[in-house]
Amino acid sequence: MGGMTETEYLVEMRGITKRFPNVVANKNASFTLRKGEVHALLGENGAGKSTLMNVLYGIYRPDAGEIRVYGKRVEIRGPKDALKLGIGMVHQQFKLIPVHTVAENVILGLKEMGFVLDGRKINQRLGEVISRYGWKISPDARVWQLSAGEKQQVELLKALFRNVKILILDEPTSVLTPQETVVLFQTLRTMASQGIGIVLITHKLEEVFSVSDRVTVMRGGETVATKHVRDTNIEELVELMIGRPLLKIAPARQLSREKAVLRVSDLVVLNDKGLEAVRNVSFQLFGGEILGIAGVSGNGQQELLEAIAGLRKPVSGKIFLDGVDITDKHPWEIISAGVSYIPAEALRYSAAEMTVAENLVLKAYRNPEFSKKILINWKNVAKKSMDLVQSFRIVTPSINNKVGNLSGGNVQRLVLARELGTYPKLRVVLAAYPTRGLDIASTEAIHQEFIKKSEQGVSILLVSEELEELVALCDRIMVMHRGEVVGVLERGMYDIEEIGLMMTGVKKMEAKA
Ligand SMILES: Nc1ncnc2c1ncn2[C@@H]1O[C@H](COP(=O)(O)OP(=O)(O)OP(=O)(O)O)[C@@H](O)[C@H]1O
Ligand SMILES: [Mg+2]
Repeated sequence: MGGMTETEYLVEMRGITKRFPNVVANKNASFTLRKGEVHALLGENGAGKSTLMNVLYGIYRPDAGEIRVYGKRVEIRGPKDALKLGIGMVHQQFKLIPVHTVAENVILGLKEMGFVLDGRKINQRLGEVISRYGWKISPDARVWQLSAGEKQQVELLKALFRNVKILILDEPTSVLTPQETVVLFQTLRTMASQGIGIVLITHKLEEVFSVSDRVTVMRGGETVATKHVRDTNIEELVELMIGRPLLKIAPARQLSREKAVLRVSDLVVLNDKGLEAVRNVSFQLFGGEILGIAGVSGNGQQELLEAIAGLRKPVSGKIFLDGVDITDKHPWEIISAGVSYIPAEALRYSAAEMTVAENLVLKAYRNPEFSKKILINWKNVAKKSMDLVQSFRIVTPSINNKVGNLSGGNVQRLVLARELGTYPKLRVVLAAYPTRGLDIASTEAIHQEFIKKSEQGVSILLVSEELEELVALCDRIMVMHRGEVVGVLERGMYDIEEIGLMMTGVKKMEAKA
């Protein structure tokens, strides 16, 4: 190395290999980060993105390879070492303490790192940073009171407060609304303009093109290419990511609308704060129909699905399944009647300490196939689990692996496998953001699975923020805004701009589903 010439890179990772029992999560992976760039780390679920960045952040020690930071070879033994080097990371699951205030969360752990703290100065500095980035959080707010987007701002605040020069964000938009995403991207550009190098872990191609300067694609633990975003395109990145071009889907079909499978009438449901989240919602879902619910998340979609699943008591109104009133039925009875529920936060609805096989049969263990009275037939459970792992492409070394060890996207696939694959008579699927957090190939696989199920007569109520997804899949799209149905559109009449206006409450259409 020649004398004083400054390295062009903040970070250089070369030949990184990281093994877990039965899995090689990173194979000879290389990655560089420049000052002032947003560098997207793109790849399918399980490609090894989080692992590679956890190695940089010191959470994992690599089995092979070397890391240079500011041109100097370093050993990063833990997050403390990383922070000393100016490396910060915001994880897929936030690591904040809900009962503490924003300020308390930000300074947590700083003293131990040798920072001298002065209460007044802290609040002043926090205020400065918050206003510089145009955020609206207060240093005195308790974290549990904040929205997902605001919690993330607290994480960013922590990083800024620690003067990080290298910031890693693990799928930061998966918990954000489209509006919050716009704010985040502005923040990232501002940070980059101040010289911070940012790693954006993602599998969304839009994010590569809307905010990133360079992109490194990972597949099967390897870093298969690094490109300048201006020199690449969607097709090339898809092929690098999944190793083949994408299939197209377009199910145009005729459905009978004689008898509703699910009928919801004048439903009113409260949210956790006791406010009306669903206001007089009425609609019908027909056999084999895919009915989309478009809306900015937080407009009552979640509460509506929870009410149908029996997890939230409606204040008034009725829900009928095949003509039978299920409004006040117990969730177990609703499950037995063939209503499955794919919740938005898959991780929360799966037991991290249980194995893949146990999670897969969590709801189905009352099937005679798997249990007689209280005896569980583990042979059948194992067989079924292996089938599901294969058909839903769950990446796991075995069905006895703990769910907590799976990558984020694979937990999502597991919940989908359970909700679509283990009901003896599936009638209705309630799906909340089922492809959130999933890469292209898995999203495509889920879409195919929905189409297959609908062709078998299963009805699907699909809540999504991705209008492209709704337009591609749904027979009808119902738009919700502030708890109300503000419009219903038929396939063939979809207009993304119009739906967008309805979602934001600018436009309303008089129609009933
Ligand atoms: N702590 C761990 N123990 C065992 N296996 C692990 C662990 N962490 C990750 N793996 C495995 O390593 C592989 C890579 O996982 P990783 O979390 O890095 O993927 P990812 O690209 O971040 O995926 P996603 O987009 O789903 O978050 C996966 O097969 C995963 O199951
Ligand atoms: Mg990950």
